[in-house]
Amino acid sequence: MRRIYVNPLPVRVWHWINATGFVALIVTGLQIRYGGLIGLMSFETAVDLHNWVGFVVIGNYFIWLFFYLFSDKITVYHPELNPRKYYREAFRQIRYYGFGILRGDPNPHHANPYNKFNPLQRMLYQIIMLLIVPIQFVTGLLLWDVTRFAGAVEWLGGVRVVDTVHVLIFIFFAGFLFIHIYLASLGRTPSAHFKAMFTGYEEEEDEAGEDDPGRKSTRGTGGEPGLAP
Ligand code: HEM
Repeated sequence: MRRIYVNPLPVRVWHWINATGFVALIVTGLQIRYGGLIGLMSFETAVDLHNWVGFVVIGNYFIWLFFYLFSDKITVYHPELNPRKYYREAFRQIRYYGFGILRGDPNPHHANPYNKFNPLQRMLYQIIMLLIVPIQFVTGLLLWDVTRFAGAVEWLGGVRVVDTVHVLIFIFFAGFLFIHIYLASLGRTPSAHFKAMFTGYEEEEDEAGEDDPGRKSTRGTGGEPGLAP
């Protein structure tokens, strides 16, 4: 068994603050939008909590952004620029999730600290973190004080447009959470990826020939520095 250090501390801190924050934002957002159906708290409390948690989550985002911008681990988010290679690997991963996993096939992707995501994760996480999350932050900020940001709100088409985008992304994230947690449970054991997001270390079975010191990794760059004894 090899232990591979895939989740550095800043990523873990960011992730769990973010996850808790998103759950709180979804619950308070539901209370704000469907006050007549849910009675968890008053409208005013829901708005106050939603605003405060929103600011915490926005600030917390910069832990993730700065960590990756100023670390060599940014390679985990580098896209595969060869379309043939990308589609081949993505298709292999879809086939694994679709039925390979049911037959007990091994996961075609092997994580290392510089290449920890499979092709589907790499693309989805990039779109989420660099596009969808920032749009949600900006629309949330504009709705927080529509008078102060009246110019920007009007420029974007008015409060209805900004609010619709914010709610559509909210629905996306509510759905994303279920898929994300389900896929995160498909590790070596159901809890393996969750543990790794707390400890930093992912465990992987040794493959034949894996301990050969002369063996060169063909997966990403420099997997060895993150290996733990
Ligand atoms: C209760 C809620 C959540 C749980 C239990 C959870 C669980 C996990 C786990 C186990 C991983 C590591 C395995 C993997 O990469 O798939 C992970 C990674 C990740 N999650 Fe979540 N997650 C939650 C909420 C969220 C939310 C709300 C977002 C985004 C808005 C998010 C974005 C990410 C990203 C971008 C990564 C990769 C992080 C990196 O290494 O750079 N997660 N999550």
